[in-house]
Amino acid sequence: MFYFGVDYYPEHWPEERWPDDARLMAEAGFNVVRLAEFAWSKVEPREGGYEFSWLDKAIDILGQQGMKIVLGTLTASPPPWLMSAHPDTFRVRADGVRVTFGNRREYCLNNPVYHDYTRRIVTQMAKHYGDHPTVIGWQIDNEFGDRCYCPVCARAFQNWLHRRYGSLDTLNQKWGTVFWSHTYTDWSEIPLPLTTGGSPNPGLALDFFRFSADSYVAYQQMQMDILREKCPKHFITHNFMGFMYDGLNYHALAEPLDFVSWDNYPLMMNADAARMAIAHDTMRGLKRSGFWVMEEQSGPHGWENVGPTPRPGELRLWVYQAISHGAEGIVFFRWRTSRFGTEQYWHGILDHDGIPRRRYQEVKRIGEELKRIRNMIAGSRCRAEVAMLLSYDDRFAFQIQSNNSRFSYSDHFQLYYEALHRLNVPVDIVSPRGDLSDYKLVIAPTLHITSEEIVSNLQRYVEQGGVLVITFRSGVKDEANAVVNLPLPGLLADLSGIEVVEYDSLLADGRNGLEFVIPRLSTMVRKTSCEVWCDIIEPKGAEVVARYTEDYYAGRAAVTQNNYGLGETIYVGTIGDVAFYHALMRWLLEKAGVEPLLATSRAVEVTAKERDGRALLFLLNHASQDEEVELEKRYRDLLTDKAVEGETTIPGKGVLILTQE
Ligand code: GLA
Ligand code: ZN
Repeated sequence: MFYFGVDYYPEHWPEERWPDDARLMAEAGFNVVRLAEFAWSKVEPREGGYEFSWLDKAIDILGQQGMKIVLGTLTASPPPWLMSAHPDTFRVRADGVRVTFGNRREYCLNNPVYHDYTRRIVTQMAKHYGDHPTVIGWQIDNEFGDRCYCPVCARAFQNWLHRRYGSLDTLNQKWGTVFWSHTYTDWSEIPLPLTTGGSPNPGLALDFFRFSADSYVAYQQMQMDILREKCPKHFITHNFMGFMYDGLNYHALAEPLDFVSWDNYPLMMNADAARMAIAHDTMRGLKRSGFWVMEEQSGPHGWENVGPTPRPGELRLWVYQAISHGAEGIVFFRWRTSRFGTEQYWHGILDHDGIPRRRYQEVKRIGEELKRIRNMIAGSRCRAEVAMLLSYDDRFAFQIQSNNSRFSYSDHFQLYYEALHRLNVPVDIVSPRGDLSDYKLVIAPTLHITSEEIVSNLQRYVEQGGVLVITFRSGVKDEANAVVNLPLPGLLADLSGIEVVEYDSLLADGRNGLEFVIPRLSTMVRKTSCEVWCDIIEPKGAEVVARYTEDYYAGRAAVTQNNYGLGETIYVGTIGDVAFYHALMRWLLEKAGVEPLLATSRAVEVTAKERDGRALLFLLNHASQDEEVELEKRYRDLLTDKAVEGETTIPGKGVLILTQE
């Protein structure tokens, strides 16, 4: 089943309008609607007084038009009566200030009183809708995030540490609290890393970020336990925030869910094809399976200011891009633009006046197409031969110490991803702890925090013939965020056959030059430049791939390759320019035996899915003008049902979905 629909807030509009909305949704080809994630005060206007009749009615009207319903669990927006009766439940920010009422998700996720209210409202919802024939699933809360620094969280953190370390001696030793006389003699002395405390001990800060992430997993689980018991037929998901969001451990949060959903706002990513693609791939990688887009941009975004409007064809292009990267449900945000509230400029499919215009017509066209092709795309799966390893521990560690003010984990990660994306090579983005045996090439940018578990996973992979890429600042930290007592790259030294004997952190516009010494690479780029960070490498069995050309370390190794078992490890000790990554990637792909899907101009993204052994090729033109592609084989385009081969034109913002004839 392929789900296609919209986020709807019937509570914002008079009841008389609901049947028209439902009819227009059906005419757009929708079969699913998400409701109620912010409707707590409408369902429980007074403590203990529940009013479901309005929601029942909305669900009935939508159900009559063939919609299935996904319900929010309401906890994302607590009503004023709750928060003013229990001011302790307000979250405290990192600067120690308690937030006040007026937004949403103002609560402390560890507060026992808020937990009681959560259990009560979720139980009421679950009891009321557990057997409803139209309801198919639940979205827990909404876009989890934000750490809380309140006294309740402080105590919970201390208990969490007690469970993790067992004894204060162990904690003191792992964190190195001897530094600046921080040795703790009682669990209650351990502070939160409030910004008023200045730069915290990195061990404490990392553990607090992990604790916050775990707290969200636990809060989600509390809701899931109720739903699993009372609604065994329904699925449970949560709406994540793509690649850029790095406040939680998304691998852990995704684990218990039936599938991941996420909120895709292309115009907040400048409609950049690779940035949207990396977000989709990250979301697919969390559970290594299909996902939903629970909020897909459908109009200009905006709170105080109004964003640009999606160009004709873009909504359709973004939907097919999402599908090609693994989306099995697309739900637009939102049906109709609200006349009031903080988001009165966050546009939906319909404008404030409720009149269907250009964007509605485009959505309707997608709906018609999906009806025709959904049997072909349902059950299709993405398959990649290249994996990138994403670590939330590393993201947390770099939030605490970025090492160089110009270094960003996500930017650096994207350089590798973009090089692959530009060559039209599909990528899985997975945890460093996951099974890697399916991949021919694995790229682990700045694998900063290592453990025996992660390192032996990588060793196994390379021993058996895999090609592994690691980069500077890998193997630097142990799991307590202390620097390893080993030559760098620490536990990864054996795999990479090198020693990092010195490093140079380049400030402002500091640069060095790079020169490839491997013939295959030096024919592609002879000289290029590097910035931000330079590891000065002494090969210990590895071969030099590129060396620096300037400063006192001119001639020293910057990039190396090392044979290990049946495979090899490539170590990249610096950040190069676009030409560097382009050449490096082509060389790596050749080495690993990975073939790009198709060579195209930059504007055209090519992705692939597989269904019953048959390949589906998606050609997505992100430019406004026509683009030409050269097809090597004869295909049939699913959308037009026409045969295509040889030189083929894709119209601006156009899409081809090809199967081989
Ligand atoms: C997020 C939220 C939505 C809405 C949009 C637009 O994705 O989940 O409720 O607020 O952003 O701001
Ligand atoms: Zn708290």
